[in-house]
Amino acid sequence: MDKFVIRGGNPLLGTVRISGAKNAALPAMAAALLTEEPVILENIPQVRDIETTRKLLAAMGAEVELGYGRAQHRTTICCRNLASPEASYELVKTMRASTLVLGPLVARCGNARVSLPGGCAIGARPIDLHIKGLELLGAKINQEHGYVEASAERLRGAEIVFDKITVTGTEDLLMAATLAEGETVMQNCAREPEIADLADLLNKMGAQIEGAGTAKIRVRGVEKLHGTKHRIIPDRIEAATFILAGAITGGDLNVAGCDPQHLDALLEKLHEVGVKTSCRGDSVRVEGNDNLNAADVITEEFPGFPTDIQAQYMALATQAEGTSTITENIFENRFMHALEMVRMGANIKIEGSRAVVRGKTPLSSAAVLASDLRASASLVLAALVADGEIIIDRVYHIDRGYENIEEKLRAVGAQIRRIGEILPKRRGSGVG
Ligand code: EPU
Repeated sequence: MDKFVIRGGNPLLGTVRISGAKNAALPAMAAALLTEEPVILENIPQVRDIETTRKLLAAMGAEVELGYGRAQHRTTICCRNLASPEASYELVKTMRASTLVLGPLVARCGNARVSLPGGCAIGARPIDLHIKGLELLGAKINQEHGYVEASAERLRGAEIVFDKITVTGTEDLLMAATLAEGETVMQNCAREPEIADLADLLNKMGAQIEGAGTAKIRVRGVEKLHGTKHRIIPDRIEAATFILAGAITGGDLNVAGCDPQHLDALLEKLHEVGVKTSCRGDSVRVEGNDNLNAADVITEEFPGFPTDIQAQYMALATQAEGTSTITENIFENRFMHALEMVRMGANIKIEGSRAVVRGKTPLSSAAVLASDLRASASLVLAALVADGEIIIDRVYHIDRGYENIEEKLRAVGAQIRRIGEILPKRRGSGVG
């Protein structure tokens, strides 16, 4: 199992380029199931969740070409012959977002069999709202042996009001509604930029969607969708992670190829913390300093402060003067990174859904364990300011969603390397 070995203390300097958004690419790949024609997606990040989605689609009989580097991080997906509209437990258990195929499959094939995702490191994360929405669209649902089976000759438009805001739930039902008969109106939808990106793609495929990116989405169902080409938006969570890396190391970092408008909540918070940021075109420059102020954070749905950067912000809070309270409102168990930071010397107390971080505390060498994707990123950030060597175990989590993170960090001055197993430490050996 791979580990990161990080030696902190270097300010990050230079330019880092942001990849395409994993959480926009996953539903976009699922959307290809809605048509017989090829869908070409560009700016696909080279991360493990994309490879899992490739396998998922290929197992159903889709032809998926995936090329990186000179091929411009592009995938071409053709779902002309779908042999089995099924997502197996083997794949769903490694990536919950596999459930995104449920809506498109039942809409296009008339039936789908998708494993229920089961437990998750950050909270219960049921998919009851996806299922309830599909029922409203006229699907017959049967749940047994850990699978959801959905069937409908043709889905029909409906009024869907989400009891709770759900990102992939909105995406799943949005895709299903494109091929339903008649009009669907969805209320209390998620407003994340990834939803607007998916709607852009679907509209290019011939769908009739209005209002994506707002709480109310209207979809006029069509008979058929066709192939198209679409460029995935930049990854706002990767961008936020690098902005926080620049801030925590007191660096001067240009985070390029992102969309600063997607980062408002973070940039406002950093202003409160005393970190200077400036936006120009598709870049954010972050200039860190040694005098950070504590500032409270509450995670919310977009456009609020994202739960996906709560852990990384906590690393920064350990280096701010005073007490920061971080309230996690989206998931019930997303503080696993806090105890690992405590092992590095941080002063953090968990009180239910709140973490109270008292700073500024020096962080120093320890072996720590990554529990999920964003927790791994937060431990990397903490390690970048620690004294001595930090070893982060289970970095396979980070490979799910960050493209070449160690190479990108090394290029701007971090001392980070990946090892397959811990080797006996030699005197004077550094990391580079
Ligand atoms: N929820 C329900 N029932 C449902 C669906 C959701 O109760 O049917 C609850 C969840 O348990 C949670 C809340 O609603 O408490 C919000 O969950 P949501 O459905 O919005 O999360 P998701 O769609 O499963 C996506 C991202 C996550 C991100 C969340 C919140 C993708 C592939 N995943 O998950 O990303 O944290 O939205 O913004 O888009 C990550 O990238 O590290 C990651 C976890």
